[in-house]
Amino acid sequence: MEIITRDSSFTIFNETFQECYHSTNDGAYNETLYKHVIPAFNHIKNKQHIKILDICFGLGYNTLCFLNHAQENLYQGTIEIHSPEINLIDNLYTYKYPKAFDLNILKSLCKTHSYKDKKTNVFLHIGDARDTIRRFVQNNLKFDIIFQDAFSPIKNKKLWSYEYFKDLYKITKKDSIITTYSLNSSMLYSAFLAGFKSYKLKHDTIKDSVIMLKNTLNVDNTKEIDINNKIRVNKSLIGIYD
Ligand SMILES: C[S@@+](CC[C@H](N)C(=O)[O-])C[C@H]1O[C@@H](n2cnc3c(N)ncnc32)[C@H](O)[C@@H]1O
Repeated sequence: MEIITRDSSFTIFNETFQECYHSTNDGAYNETLYKHVIPAFNHIKNKQHIKILDICFGLGYNTLCFLNHAQENLYQGTIEIHSPEINLIDNLYTYKYPKAFDLNILKSLCKTHSYKDKKTNVFLHIGDARDTIRRFVQNNLKFDIIFQDAFSPIKNKKLWSYEYFKDLYKITKKDSIITTYSLNSSMLYSAFLAGFKSYKLKHDTIKDSVIMLKNTLNVDNTKEIDINNKIRVNKSLIGIYD
């Protein structure tokens, strides 16, 4: 069933995970745009080819919003998106999406699990994201952007674990960016142990989000998350991955 979020865009409640696909307080569209699409696009926009891993496809907001944002900002390069999804919802394109989204892309993805035009290639990988990611590791694929947008670490632990982040480390370029909405301490510690630095990103009207990088970042509105302090405050973090 559709739920109208704070910015009037819709999301859905997932019965299996007992969680919404987006934050109803922040708004599905605003969350997508400000926590994922804008930080990722700004980080990578000077590249001629952008390769994105969108975990997981869900309602497709991240993929559709990124493609729209790149077009609005006159991005001239090519974009390749890979998105794992274990449970693709039928006929997604019949839902009332934000006007900016190109529903022809969504229709093609629902019907053929792929979309292609002159500058864009999108592939849906139906199945468990961890298997898809392991295949990417074996094939030595390297991504510029990862939208880490699984259900929360409490509800879907497997997609936030240390082992999982170690695989993400293997499939990301040196100057890549991971965006996520979660500030969960155990998750941040897993990412830290896997080799990522995490930065808190402040937003004016919605909750803070996180950027993860292999490199050091120096951008307005961001603050590196002091993982050693998190360990001092929460000693139970130590040893969780022994
Ligand atoms: C929070 S929603 C993703 C929202 C999506 N990024 C969007 O913009 O609409 C999480 C999605 O992860 C999918 N999922 C859960 N566990 C998965 C797994 N192990 N592998 C692949 N997809 C999974 C769910 O079916 C759901 O569609």
